[in-house]
Amino acid sequence: MVLLAMTGRTEGWIAEPYGSDVSRIIQFAEIDWEQWISILLFNQAKRQQRTSSPLYSLFRALYHLMAVSTGYRMLSQWVSVNPGGDTLDKLVIEGGRPLSGSIRIHGAKNAALPIMAASLLADGEITLHNVPHLLDIEVMLYILERLGCTCRHEQGTVTINTSLVRSHDVPEDLMKQMRSSIFLMGPLLARFGRVSVYQPGGCAIGERKIDLHLRGLEALGAQIEEQDQQIICHGANLTGADIHLDFPSVGATENIMMAAVLAEGTTTIFNAAREPEIQDLQHFLNAMGARIMGAGTDTITINGVEKLQPCTYEIIPDRIVAGTVMIAAAATRGNVTLTHCNPAHLTSLIHVLKRTGVQITVCNDIMTVSCMTRPKSVDRIVTSPYPSFPTDLQSQIMVLLSLADGFSVMKETVFEGRFKHVDELNVMGADISVDLNAAFIRGVPRLYGATVEATDLRAGAALVIAGLAAQGKTIVEQVHHIDRGYDQIEKLFQSLGASVERQSTVSKQLDFAN
Ligand code: EPU
Repeated sequence: MVLLAMTGRTEGWIAEPYGSDVSRIIQFAEIDWEQWISILLFNQAKRQQRTSSPLYSLFRALYHLMAVSTGYRMLSQWVSVNPGGDTLDKLVIEGGRPLSGSIRIHGAKNAALPIMAASLLADGEITLHNVPHLLDIEVMLYILERLGCTCRHEQGTVTINTSLVRSHDVPEDLMKQMRSSIFLMGPLLARFGRVSVYQPGGCAIGERKIDLHLRGLEALGAQIEEQDQQIICHGANLTGADIHLDFPSVGATENIMMAAVLAEGTTTIFNAAREPEIQDLQHFLNAMGARIMGAGTDTITINGVEKLQPCTYEIIPDRIVAGTVMIAAAATRGNVTLTHCNPAHLTSLIHVLKRTGVQITVCNDIMTVSCMTRPKSVDRIVTSPYPSFPTDLQSQIMVLLSLADGFSVMKETVFEGRFKHVDELNVMGADISVDLNAAFIRGVPRLYGATVEATDLRAGAALVIAGLAAQGKTIVEQVHHIDRGYDQIEKLFQSLGASVERQSTVSKQLDFAN
């Protein structure tokens, strides 16, 4: 990087290995010398962090000083598209090999993200185990650091020290990075009586409003004003209330739980979401001293407490990653054993897979999935909130149904824009048509390799499954979407015998930068 800076180039992009494989991209247009120093300190801190060196904290602190004083937006390093808008990473898949072997399922992104935000509710150091290495997790850690936390993420364990939180304002560029940034609202409001945020970003799968979050916080006594794009909430004395959600929104349920936990009196959320991630949040908050009951049912009761204490907690396994692997095993007519998963969180998928003729055996936290013959179609699957069939597995199961013997219908009721994978699957030879929120799938004997584009996280995972099952070579572009929710998806499937390689189109710049 020093060499690069010395070349005097004033605009462009550089890439560095991040974690073990994922390319980390830094836009260096108009970066001045202070910002260069800040970047160098950041890199140094990351290297030290990997080797657990005590120098880590020093580099980290210096980086913070520089980054904050120069206003440099480090977040650009996680942006995985270059200025021309082309993808950097693509997956090249040679399809047609049945998956086989055993795989350990990593921790749940959608449980870890709200729990990381909820750490802000206590003063001190929180330790979380089984946290996956994902883009969204790194972004959340970065946001927490920008608020004043000190964070580490090593070998699945995250520590978050919240003692020096100094800001309650989440900048717009960070809010836009992912939907989960909205989880900061409840905890910051509860602990500091004030928070300002912007409309969150996230996968483009529908309108994704936040009205239920805001109405819930207002019911607890928060005053909310919107100035331009900024949403400012004040609420020094939140008070428990009865809150009826029009829809069992996962995020709104979680945000209200986190805000209500330090409110005076009792809050009851009616028509609450029942997802396992909500139960995980309840268990975490209770481990910090909260008094919450009912998560997993549609009525959650939160008795406010004065203070929460830091704790150590282990995140549940990722049911969507597990489901993706199960469907991939079936679609490739393979035989795969999943370990460290929770079959109880996957009953709707297990039910559907069994209807297609897939064999599944369950023993505690181990599941074996095998499929030797062409799967059968399923006349109708409807996605809806837990415990029904999850929207987050809709695109993946559609790949299996595309290969099934017969005609299936898939109805999507949670997000209005979640059929973007259909065109790509049709390019691969699938026969699917869409009418409003229903997809009509006529099974074909096989799919064929093609160049396709991941439009969002789960659509991307579906295309990877399609590529694994297809005849010939598939190239999946826009892999950064997939990196949000799967820890090195290529390694995951390689370990099950698949031929999947990640290619970066900036490899030359990578050499240059290093
Ligand atoms: N909705 C509103 N107003 C709100 C909140 C939600 O109208 O204030 C609507 C949404 O527009 C959507 C529906 O309610 O149509 C469901 O949204 P929900 O709030 O339940 O979803 P979320 O909290 O935004 C979480 C997961 C999603 C998952 C959904 C549904 C996280 C970080 N995200 O999103 O995960 O699809 O619940 O289960 O927990 C993914 O992992 O790929 C993903 C998108």
